Amino acid sequence: MARIRTVYRCTECGAANPQWVGRCPSCEAWNSLVEEVESPRPSAAGELAGFPAADRPVRITDLDGLDGSPRPTGIGELDRVLGGGLVPGSVTLLGGEPGIGKSTLLLEALANQARGGARALYISAEESKQQVRNRAERLDALVPNLWLTTDTVLPNIVAAIGELTPELVVVDSIQTIVDPELGSAPGSVVQVRECTHRLVREAKQRGIAILLVGHVTKDGALAGPRVLEHVVDTVLSFEGERHHALRLLRAVKHRFGSTNELGLFEMTDAGLVGLPDPSGLFLADRRDGIAGSVVVPTVEGQRPLLVEVQALVAPSPLAVPRRSAQGFDQGRLSLLLAVLEQRAGLSFAGTDVYVSAVGGVRLAEPGSDLAVCLALASSLTGHAVAADVVACGEIGLGGELRQAAQTPRRLAEAARLGFKHAIVPASATNGVTGIHVERARTLSEALVLAGIYRSRP
Ligand code: TYD
Ligand code: MG
Repeated sequence: MARIRTVYRCTECGAANPQWVGRCPSCEAWNSLVEEVESPRPSAAGELAGFPAADRPVRITDLDGLDGSPRPTGIGELDRVLGGGLVPGSVTLLGGEPGIGKSTLLLEALANQARGGARALYISAEESKQQVRNRAERLDALVPNLWLTTDTVLPNIVAAIGELTPELVVVDSIQTIVDPELGSAPGSVVQVRECTHRLVREAKQRGIAILLVGHVTKDGALAGPRVLEHVVDTVLSFEGERHHALRLLRAVKHRFGSTNELGLFEMTDAGLVGLPDPSGLFLADRRDGIAGSVVVPTVEGQRPLLVEVQALVAPSPLAVPRRSAQGFDQGRLSLLLAVLEQRAGLSFAGTDVYVSAVGGVRLAEPGSDLAVCLALASSLTGHAVAADVVACGEIGLGGELRQAAQTPRRLAEAARLGFKHAIVPASATNGVTGIHVERARTLSEALVLAGIYRSRP
């Protein structure tokens, strides 16, 4: 008789434990174990039998070249992140918080493919066919070559793929797909992992591109085991602030190309609109002459992007003053405050400090250090930095400035948008025209150049 076994499985790393414990022994995540009933898999032998008898090693030179070139999806910003498009036979996981626009993006991609004559299948396990149709109508995505199903049962999905032979399949979402033979609930680690494995095999055997939608937990991790990220070829993350229309698409892992590129979209009434020239996007509502505002030319992938950094330093009524960073790393903010205190003689004791990157952008690269420090010092002293100044550079613990990658490209973009002065580290590469470059070796020198100190303290 089949023996049923209960295990407790970690939703973070997928490790199994015989008893429930508060902390996963394997990845040390707290409270991540869930009960799971594991029945022996009647399919195991059958699945093995389904494999080809033996795969003998072959000489690499005896293999025919496969057409592994990416096929454009027709959505420019998505293709940019994918390095040209989707590779046939690949599986891509798209993660993002609920409501960020995953279904919208993929429906647009499917419709584009279908319009180009390819057969596309949308497995919508979360919305009804009618809902999808209505959305498609709004997005101008009603195309006969786009097929729909709301089936969530894995064998049925595999059969539908076999019957329809589509070139592109979207599974929205992988957490809702079940294989009845596994005997655990939809969304459980086992289901998500095994269903993904099966779909990966299907993609490779048939040479179709499959896109899986994955839900993301509150802290931004993909729900389900991390092992999922190893199984698929590409992991994309779709991000944005809920109250902003801006959406950012990044590749977290990409077997076929670089993970540097950033895709930018705006969510509008007519769906997602790509923003191919976003560099001045975040400056539209800027007010000149305010203390605490500095523009940083950053680069995301190959694209320069000018972002306003705002800081507000205010007297604090609290015993432990507030340090708040939005779009910027909190730990990095503490570090920069310490450098400002120790190396530039500015005291933030007894003040609340707020720093924010305007427009829902996240400044993750150290090249934005200098602009953040100038904004902080400017707000503290009340001296505004001139509106036509940009600043970029990394700051070391000694208060020294280091050159940020691709400085000329950043400055060229700042010049194109009409900025007249740039404060950069002394070591920064030469050769930019159209902008007056001012060099500083230390943070204090940069504060003088920015007009925050009248002279060096
Ligand atoms: P959706 O693609 O359903 O998000 P996800 O699949 O990631 O959960 O997008 C939902 C949000 O997008 C919803 O709040 C409404 C908004 N939206 C628009 O603003 N314009 C549109 O044309 C569409 C289709 C959605
Ligand atoms: Mg959705």
